Amino acid sequence: MSKKIFSGVQPTGNLHLGNYIGAIKNFVNLQNDKNNFCIYCVVDLHAITVKQNPEELKKNIRETTAAFIASGLDYKKSIIFNQSLVSAHSEGSWILSCIARMGWLNRMTQFKEKAGKDKEKASVGLYIYPILMAADILLYDATHVPVGEDQKQHLELSRDIANKFNLDFNSKNFLIAPEPLIQKNFARIMSLKDGNKKMSKSDPSELSRINLSDTKDEIFNKIKKAKTDTQPLPENVNQLADRSEAENLLGIYSSLSDQSLIQTINEFSGKNFSYFKEKLANLVVDKISPISSEINKLLKDNKFIDDVLNEGAQKANEIASKKVKNIKKIIGL
Ligand code: AMP
Ligand code: TRP
Repeated sequence: MSKKIFSGVQPTGNLHLGNYIGAIKNFVNLQNDKNNFCIYCVVDLHAITVKQNPEELKKNIRETTAAFIASGLDYKKSIIFNQSLVSAHSEGSWILSCIARMGWLNRMTQFKEKAGKDKEKASVGLYIYPILMAADILLYDATHVPVGEDQKQHLELSRDIANKFNLDFNSKNFLIAPEPLIQKNFARIMSLKDGNKKMSKSDPSELSRINLSDTKDEIFNKIKKAKTDTQPLPENVNQLADRSEAENLLGIYSSLSDQSLIQTINEFSGKNFSYFKEKLANLVVDKISPISSEINKLLKDNKFIDDVLNEGAQKANEIASKKVKNIKKIIGL
């Protein structure tokens, strides 16, 4: 069946191995299936829900775009653009905010996490962020949305908004309720310092994550220092119980080598961590270093990146502005 794919990544600094394995690698696989039509968006309007430095933001938009391209996204096959160039996202988001209910937003766990203890000081944008995300998806009639597990609840909200709109305006199937595409395996890559915490760009410890821009030496050093335990590597999956760090490192190896966890366990069973870490570091370098040097090469040519985004935005605008026009017609504007 042909799928219409939409996904977005925020341009908020260093992309890491978790973003690559949990999201971007999957974007590339979906793009390379000829039955799919894919749209990938650098969601800069989502980024400004927390304070950004204007210079940094501009740099991060280009960096995320470069990471998309360097990882294998092809602007000739897929639409690649940044959200703020297509005003239909903001317009659609306002209309959908009149469909979404306060009670639905109040349940969003990511807002609670991001707003922290002092909710009163969070921006209103951060609160209604999932509605903008719904607009992103619904304006393109996307059928499938590849995201990490943490975004599942936001996808559910997009479905609720689509269904309520269709019901309220007697317009069955006008907005398409999208399905999440969440990887079954290795959907969450954990911190290298704590196997119970997600690898994240906001972790203060640089040693907790491998950035797509890391050099070979940095990758080797971070893997060498990654937390493990004192037992040898497991002989079967059961022996991974309560060994989240070992499981995470084996998961990273499996994902990057496109093999199952069981195959990786068989490959290393009974070996010690220093042997395994050496192999893992080499694999990560093999997969990540070409991406990182391509990112650096692309970042020397801002005009090329800006052209990709502008061209993508034109194509996106054709689709999204038409949809907003039809939404307006339906609601009587
Ligand atoms: P973010 O950097 O939080 O905007 O995330 C961009 C994409 O990467 C989203 O689809 C996330 O679900 C995914 N992602 C972020 N961190 C991880 C992680 N540690 N493991 C797997 N996927 C992740
Ligand atoms: N909220 C997503 C994240 O933080 C990013 C995002 C914005 C997105 N709009 C989207 C993802 C639309 C998928 C589809 O990762």
